[in-house]
Amino acid sequence: MTQQRERSNVFGEAADQYEAFRPGYPEALVADVLADAGPGPALEVGAGTGKATVAFAAHGIDLLCLEPDARMAAVLARRVAGFPGVSVVGDRFETWPPDRGYGLLYSAQAWHWIDPARRTDLAAAALAPGGLLALFWNASLLGDHALQAALVEVDERYWPGGERTAHAYRIDEYPTGTETFEQEWGELALHGDARFGDLRSRHYRWTLRYSAADYASFLATTSLYRTLEPADRSQALTAVTEVVDAAGGEIEFTVDTSLATARRG
Ligand SMILES: C[S@@+](CC[C@H](N)C(=O)[O-])C[C@H]1O[C@@H](n2cnc3c(N)ncnc32)[C@H](O)[C@@H]1O
Repeated sequence: MTQQRERSNVFGEAADQYEAFRPGYPEALVADVLADAGPGPALEVGAGTGKATVAFAAHGIDLLCLEPDARMAAVLARRVAGFPGVSVVGDRFETWPPDRGYGLLYSAQAWHWIDPARRTDLAAAALAPGGLLALFWNASLLGDHALQAALVEVDERYWPGGERTAHAYRIDEYPTGTETFEQEWGELALHGDARFGDLRSRHYRWTLRYSAADYASFLATTSLYRTLEPADRSQALTAVTEVVDAAGGEIEFTVDTSLATARRG
């Protein structure tokens, strides 16, 4: 976890690239979360460049965004400038003093960067009674097994310990959504926490395609690639580009956006 939290600082090194090549989140998820939210303002933890923020802000909500990396926050501030209800604060969630009772706390692709020993307590303190905690992540799943095997072969040269990069998941190996909340979201430690109830898991599937060059640009924004030495990163990205080019020049993912929600009692 310490190493993981160090990795949480790397996104800002490529903030504009992050904004250009990272995928967003399904509008259906945004609508579902807002429909379930309690009354009052919303809080976003780890807003990054605003890949989720803008979709929520477009609904005209009162939204406070926490983003501790100044380079990510600068892109975010530009993107939300047209939304008068949105403000950006440069604190980590762990050091931010809650100022109001929030009807919604959401976090996109960022909850795993928050101290796991403290994040549930912090969420409980920030949410008003009846407020909704909504945590979501994108997982990119490959249906082309030959392409996936060739890309994993590249990974093995750089991460012999078996770290799983963005193309490591085959669609047929991914959980089907039939697990219980506790099985699927055990790491969140919300199950059995008396402060939270109405635990719910939802999945949204959609298609995402990249050209070989754009896929390399996307990979360069991921924490595993960012923490490679620059020469290794460049070599690895060239190797990935060659593999995708040899497979027709395009890579298609089914994205599974998984959403966990819990209501503050
Ligand atoms: C993978 S990015 C996700 C950004 C954005 N939510 C998105 O969906 O693209 C993770 C973000 O969490 C931020 N972050 C890392 N540690 C944090 C912490 N302790 N408190 C709040 N944000 C944090 C990082 O600076 C980074 O912008």
